Amino acid sequence: MSFCIAIDGPAAAGKGTISKAVAAHFGFAHLDTGLLYRAVGAKTFEGLSPIEAAEGLAAEDLSRDDLRSGDAGQAASRVAAIPEVRSALVDFQQAFARREGGAVLDGRDIGTVICPDAEVKLYVTASDEVRAERRQKELTGKGEDVSVEEVLADLRERDERDAARATAPLKPAEDAVVIDTTEMSIEEAVAKVIALIEARRG
Ligand code: CDP
Ligand code: CDP
Repeated sequence: MSFCIAIDGPAAAGKGTISKAVAAHFGFAHLDTGLLYRAVGAKTFEGLSPIEAAEGLAAEDLSRDDLRSGDAGQAASRVAAIPEVRSALVDFQQAFARREGGAVLDGRDIGTVICPDAEVKLYVTASDEVRAERRQKELTGKGEDVSVEEVLADLRERDERDAARATAPLKPAEDAVVIDTTEMSIEEAVAKVIALIEARRG
């Protein structure tokens, strides 16, 4: 049986962290769809066009070391506005969403475009400042020398671009439950989401 949990929201809201914990709890598979766009963006650094990069995307492209960098995030957000790039990635994501045994997908358009009939839809958010502080801590922990102000500007620029694009913009699905993690620890956020899913599963 398939069961799709769609988790959308702006940059660094906690989508990935919550998705991983929820997938582990229920024994579901997890797909971080941002990684697909980051990998397409990173391939354009080598001179490929965004559409070529998306159409030729292979599993090994998802394990590059540079995908979590700020530069790959910006490149991802630029290529993600191109309709042909998005459509090249739809089949893979939809097959993943409906795989046997359950799936958690996190991104921007999972509840609106990829899996509009998802059994559970969440929109995870947090204040801009808290998201920037969390992401800055994460990046400096990995050795990237970046200030909170720089991260804040990067997140805002991506969020605005992602929300303004014509194709699959960042926005909550009409039937999504909004979870604001500004004042929640990871443990609190995960517990809340698990309780919500358990209630839906009956
Ligand atoms: O996937 P997304 O970009 O939405 O966010 P993430 O990578 O899961 O989370 C961004 C950072 O915030 C990570 O370093 C998390 O550990 C941290 N975080 C947090 O401190 N408190 C939360 N309630 C959720 C995430
Ligand atoms: O982790 P963070 O939230 O910072 O970014 P991400 O989830 O890895 O996504 C990187 C970029 O990919 C976003 O800024 C979006 O432009 C794009 N993206 C998208 O358009 N649709 C998705 N389903 C996932 C990501």
